[in-house]
Amino acid sequence: MEKTFLMVKPDGVQRNLIGEITSRFEKKGYKLAGAKLMVISNSLAEEHYGEHKDKPFFSELVEFITSGPVFAMVWEGENVIAGARQMMGATKPSDAAPGTIRGDFGVTVGKNVIHGSDSADSAKRELELFFNSEEILNYQKDN
Ligand code: CMP
Repeated sequence: MEKTFLMVKPDGVQRNLIGEITSRFEKKGYKLAGAKLMVISNSLAEEHYGEHKDKPFFSELVEFITSGPVFAMVWEGENVIAGARQMMGATKPSDAAPGTIRGDFGVTVGKNVIHGSDSADSAKRELELFFNSEEILNYQKDN
């Protein structure tokens, strides 16, 4: 079954949105396969956001994502990578539709509450960066 990497960013944790966000994915019917509250190191942040290293906002991005705890998650389900992206909404909260996580809770492009893998390749890469294989659980869930 397809898996994706999702992360409540430091602004989402500070604003008590962990429960609201996980609840949306649970109610959708995706299966939580792993989760942890963690502070991202500088080196992990630089690797995770490596594709943006030449962007003018890169140092701001690394500084923000390492500024406090994030809630890192593994979610599983049919077409979960694209489905979770739809539920997150556009990267820029002002472009994100109402009813999406960023549309409902985001304010600025930097503090946009949640990150989610944008492709199968990035899901594989990001899951390997953030989780050991023992931290990703395989269990039966009927509904
Ligand atoms: P995310 O999905 O985590 O992936 C890369 C992030 O870069 C993106 O969400 C935004 O939060 C961030 N980002 C994109 N554009 C800008 C910008 N102009 N200034 C600051 N951060 C940005």
